[in-house]
Amino acid sequence: MNKTGFIFDLDGVIVDTAKYHYLAWKNLADELGIEFTIEDNENFKGVSRRRCLEILLEMGGISVSKEQFEAWLVEKNEDYLQYILKMDENEILPDVKRILNYLKEQKIPMALGSASKNAIPILEKVSLLRYFDAIVDGNSVTKAKPDPEVFLIAAAKLGVDPLGCVVFEDAVAGIEAANSAKMLSIGIGDSEVLSESKFSFEDFTKIDIDFLNRLVLSLQERNNKG
Ligand code: BG6
Ligand code: MG
Repeated sequence: MNKTGFIFDLDGVIVDTAKYHYLAWKNLADELGIEFTIEDNENFKGVSRRRCLEILLEMGGISVSKEQFEAWLVEKNEDYLQYILKMDENEILPDVKRILNYLKEQKIPMALGSASKNAIPILEKVSLLRYFDAIVDGNSVTKAKPDPEVFLIAAAKLGVDPLGCVVFEDAVAGIEAANSAKMLSIGIGDSEVLSESKFSFEDFTKIDIDFLNRLVLSLQERNNKG
């Protein structure tokens, strides 16, 4: 069994796709006459597509048939995919590649743990798929974050004890999921919002190699103690 593994959320950690999710939800909201702001979009971060639509319809006080609900899910996703098609490596968030390259050099196993069903095409668009030893996405989980399922499956796929895993997350639900999986959570974004994380950084430019090395050592000790 590997001693340590690193798990990355995708949206808001590796790439800034929140703006595209926002545009696609906004288009649907406009069509339905529901007011939807960038602040409302904050509540959609880390939340499954299905749950996002439920929240949007609750905001508009709209109840719909199952068929209509499914049709709007498809409509939103097709719209979102139009934005994704245009993505390239320039959309990788600052210094993500520096961290991925370092961990790869150290032969530390890495997994993706995302709620998105579009994770693989997005990683392909930004040429990062090859870094990951395991991909766990919205197609492979039955329970959404804050349930720890996504991260526990990722740890199992990497062959790492959950106690030896680090999780990078930008969403409150994701930090909660990592903490309940007994993994070491690192918030990427606003430290006040991500106050439940063990460590937090504004972005990856603030993470230095010394910190990563110390982290790996402390995880190995944590893992040894069980
Ligand atoms: C999460 C995003 O990673 O994936 C959410 O933070 C999004 O905003 C969710 O709703 C599902 O994504 P997708 O690509 O399957 O619609
Ligand atoms: Mg995210």
